[in-house]
Amino acid sequence: TENLLVLGIESSCDETGVALVETRGPGVPVLCAHALHSQIEMHQAYGGVVPELASRDHIRRVLPLTQKVLGEAGRALTEVDVVAYTRGPGLAGALLVGAGVACALGAALGKPVLGVHHLEGHLLSPFLSLDPPQFPFVALLVSGGHTQLMRVDGVGHYELLGESIDDAAGEAFDKSAKLMGLGYPGGPALSKLAEHGDAAAFKLPRPLLHSGNLDFSFAGLKTAVLVQAKKLGDQLEARKADLAASTQAAIVEVLVKKSLAALRQTGLKRLVVAGGVGANRSLRLQLDAACFAVGVRVHYPELHLCTDNGAMIALAAAMRLQAGQQTASEVYAFDVKPR
Ligand code: KG4
Ligand code: ZN
Repeated sequence: TENLLVLGIESSCDETGVALVETRGPGVPVLCAHALHSQIEMHQAYGGVVPELASRDHIRRVLPLTQKVLGEAGRALTEVDVVAYTRGPGLAGALLVGAGVACALGAALGKPVLGVHHLEGHLLSPFLSLDPPQFPFVALLVSGGHTQLMRVDGVGHYELLGESIDDAAGEAFDKSAKLMGLGYPGGPALSKLAEHGDAAAFKLPRPLLHSGNLDFSFAGLKTAVLVQAKKLGDQLEARKADLAASTQAAIVEVLVKKSLAALRQTGLKRLVVAGGVGANRSLRLQLDAACFAVGVRVHYPELHLCTDNGAMIALAAAMRLQAGQQTASEVYAFDVKPR
C-alpha cells in the first residue's frame, strides 16, 4: 500500500494542535512533527474555558502552527495526502475553526478531508508510544468530558462497557480543585498538592464502586468535598493537601477497581489508558501495581500526548485509512458534532 501523509488538526477545546503523521505500509504510522498551543493562560483569569475566546484564539494559531509543523517535518503542504480534523465532541465554535481550516486546505489541495472523533484520537494515542499496544484490549478513557471503559478489538471496533452517568473523572478533579481554590485546570494542581497530603485523612465516598456494573458516578464526590471543605472552615488552608490527597484517592480507587472488573469481565490481558487524567501519577502507579498483580500489561500514551493534541487526530485518521475503515472518496464532509 502507498504511504499517506496525514495532516491533523485538533481544536475541540482549549488547545490548538497540529501534526503530521505518515503511514508506513501496514505498520504503526509514524509521527513526523507536531505543534501545540495551549490557551490555558488566557482562560485562567476566568476560572475556566470561555468558548468565544477559545474560537478566536484557534483562528489566530492554527495556520502558524501548520507552517511550523511542515517546516519541522521538512515537508511541503502539497505533499499532504489527507487532511484530518476533530469533528467532535467539543465546543461548537472551536470545532468549526478546525473543520473550516481543514476543509479549506482540502479544497485548495484537491485532497480528501476526514472528520475524526476526539475520543477515538485519545483511544489510539498510545500507538505513538515506544511500546505500542496490540489489539484486543480494554481501554480506560478518562478526560475532562468523558469517563468510559471500552472493549477495543481493532480500529473502529469499539464496544462501550460502562461510562459515567454524571461528571467525568477529569471534571471531578477540576471541580474539587476549584472549590479548594486551586484554579484552572484543577487536575494537575490538585494532584501536585496531593503529593504532600495524607490520602486517608478524610473519608470520601466511592460512588458505584459496588454497583456490579462498569458505570461511574462522580457528582456526589464533588458535593462531599464541598461539605468537607465547609466543615473545615478556616482550617481548610492547613488541611488542603490532605483533602486533595483524599479526593484523588477516591477517584483513583474507583477507576482502578472498575478497570480491573472490565478486564475480568472481558478476559483480556491488556489495558490502555488515555485522556488527560491518564497523566495522573497516582493513577498510573496504582494501575501498574494492580495490573501487575493479575498479569495484565498497561499501556499509556506518552505524557505529552495524554492531553489534547493534533498527533492523536492525525494518527486516528491514518489508522482508519490503513484499516480500510474509510476510503479517500468517502471522506469529504464539512460538519462538526459538538455532542
Ligand atoms: O483529554 P483532555 O486534555 O481534554 C478533554 O478531552 O477533556 O483532559 C483534560 C482533563 C482535565 O479535566 C484535567 O484536569 C485533567 O484532564 N488532567 C489531570 C491531570 N492532567 C490533566 N487530572 C489529574 N491529574 C493530572 N495530572
Ligand atoms: Zn480530549
